[in-house]
Amino acid sequence: MTEHPITQRSKWNSRLGFILAAAGSAVGLGNIWKFPYITGENGGGLFVLIYLVCIVLVGLPIMVAEIMIGRAAQKQPVGAFEALQGHKTSWTAIGWMGVLAGFIILSFYAVVAGWAMDFTLKSVVDFTSTIEESTDREAAQFVAKATPSELRSMLIDDAVSHDVRDFAKAQQRSLLQSTWDEYQAHKEFLATYRKEWDKFLSLTPVEDQRALLTQGRFEQQKLLNEIDVDALRTEVQKEIADLSDEEVLARLKLELDSSQRLLSDPKIAAAVAAGEAVEAKIAERKSELQEKWKAHFAAVPLSELEEQARTIKRRELIFNATQSAFLATATDGWTAMFWTLIFMGITTLIVGSGIASGIERTCQILMPLLLVLIVGMVVYGMFQPGFKSAFNFVFYPDPSKLKPSGVLEALGHAFFTLSLGMGAMLTYGSYQDSKSGLIGEALAITFLDTLIALLACLMIFPIAFSYGQEPSAGPGLVFMSMPLAFAEIGRGGMLLAIGFFGLLFFAALTSAVSLLEVVTSYLIDQKGWHRHSAAWSMGAAITLFAIPSAFALDENFVMSGWETGFKMNFFDTMDYLASNWLLPLGGLFIALYAGWGMPRRLQVAEVQDLAPGLFWGWLFLVRIVAPILVIIVLLQKVRILDIDMLLAGRFNCHEILF
Ligand code: TRP
Repeated sequence: MTEHPITQRSKWNSRLGFILAAAGSAVGLGNIWKFPYITGENGGGLFVLIYLVCIVLVGLPIMVAEIMIGRAAQKQPVGAFEALQGHKTSWTAIGWMGVLAGFIILSFYAVVAGWAMDFTLKSVVDFTSTIEESTDREAAQFVAKATPSELRSMLIDDAVSHDVRDFAKAQQRSLLQSTWDEYQAHKEFLATYRKEWDKFLSLTPVEDQRALLTQGRFEQQKLLNEIDVDALRTEVQKEIADLSDEEVLARLKLELDSSQRLLSDPKIAAAVAAGEAVEAKIAERKSELQEKWKAHFAAVPLSELEEQARTIKRRELIFNATQSAFLATATDGWTAMFWTLIFMGITTLIVGSGIASGIERTCQILMPLLLVLIVGMVVYGMFQPGFKSAFNFVFYPDPSKLKPSGVLEALGHAFFTLSLGMGAMLTYGSYQDSKSGLIGEALAITFLDTLIALLACLMIFPIAFSYGQEPSAGPGLVFMSMPLAFAEIGRGGMLLAIGFFGLLFFAALTSAVSLLEVVTSYLIDQKGWHRHSAAWSMGAAITLFAIPSAFALDENFVMSGWETGFKMNFFDTMDYLASNWLLPLGGLFIALYAGWGMPRRLQVAEVQDLAPGLFWGWLFLVRIVAPILVIIVLLQKVRILDIDMLLAGRFNCHEILF
């Protein structure tokens, strides 16, 4: 590798500029899109508490390590380790992994950022008010047409499903995740099998048997691989038509037998029994609730029934509309690609303009703006009826709502949200000459990131709760539940929507910039390219690589074979690969290098202004605590360790059967 002399390495203009840029990298979709929904899925308070512990024990020390390595080496990740060691070293692999991770993460990150841009524009043309007006009319029409008993049963169903939700979740949590998964995996198959068996017993004419066999084979194949259904049907029909009557009977018996054999596996049988017991309990609770609500609504006067039914119907219609608005963007590869292209263009423009005049300047404008927007939205939320329950949800730790594996998710997210594990902070640190204030900088960046993640929860949940949304709505929380709330708010909702999606876009932009910078600086530092050509060629390469992610949810996508092979679409595969493997592995090695590998002299030079106690504390965390915790997460990922199983009985899994 030839190294070209570099006349003058770019530098940040000020310490504050560095902190804002690094905080801009950290604060992104991870904070506003992902953190609220994983908090929702993991039951709130306790998850947040554990996340904070992970940030302090693992995130903060590794943040210090990355900035320290970058500052000492004055190089981006691929060159840094060699520069510090003074010779070729295998630690350089960390740098290569980082560049690869940056490339991969940005390719799907840009797609989600593109959705945010699309929604910002949609908000400017006030799509939520349009939805609100049309659904208002439809809901009124619906109520006018419905009979009182129809209205009643609709209200009963709604109340029951609302009431039973927490109970159902608690019931499911009482099983091990693996048991529940096993049950889910066989549930559909067994239901089909049982139906078939009943039918078989009642069949005599051989034609019926043939039809049954065809149908059974078809259903079974369809479960195994969800490919072209029509082609599959003809194929199966042809296969069965070629058999003789005797063969049909024999095959039919065999098929049903083999289905039954599934249940002779004691583990599967136990999982199925446990799963069915849980479902039976849920069904029982449901019918109790049904009785209760029936009695309740019988006494409610018609005018009130109509009023309530209209609200529910309207919400349902709005939800359908916002959902299809989101799907229209996400499942149309060309729209997604269009926005990805624009987003990548803006990102590349900023990176191409340099460290101080591009990245630093952008973050100096966008970060304060972002803070103002989010505080404004939280203040709005404080006046919403759902604020109190949202606050409790986020801050009140309730152990019954968290599975042990949620702890691991918290740790994994700590890496992603702080931009750790791939040398982004290392690269940013390398544009600094200061030898002081390292811990203060790391603290400020971490504090800002955590603050904004918590504010994002306090912005989203009050609105979601006030409009009857579930906190556990998953990845769609931001793109479907929020527009729903904005639509219900009516006129003022438009401003909130613009603020919200604009915020998401800005947050994503300052993060994407750091991802592109890692990849770009490799070409600049190691290959002597000019910043402009390095940024634009890497920007273009990543945009090309983003195409399959942009089209991943598009049904006409040519690469649908990917999903069959990898069991997830291209987009999710990239996210999984980077967030679950590359980042934790990178973080582990960075911690090990900073703790054990880095020459002590260089290390001490970076922290000379630090009290010895703090230095030893940091060293202990980065040498021992952080690596052990990361290794536990990785072992769980390869399923050598099942923490839910390990802690079952001692934690909240009361009903471990068998
Ligand atoms: N931290 C950003 C977020 O929360 C994403 C991000 C930017 C990132 N740069 C990174 C993640 C580097 C890992 C590594 O959205």
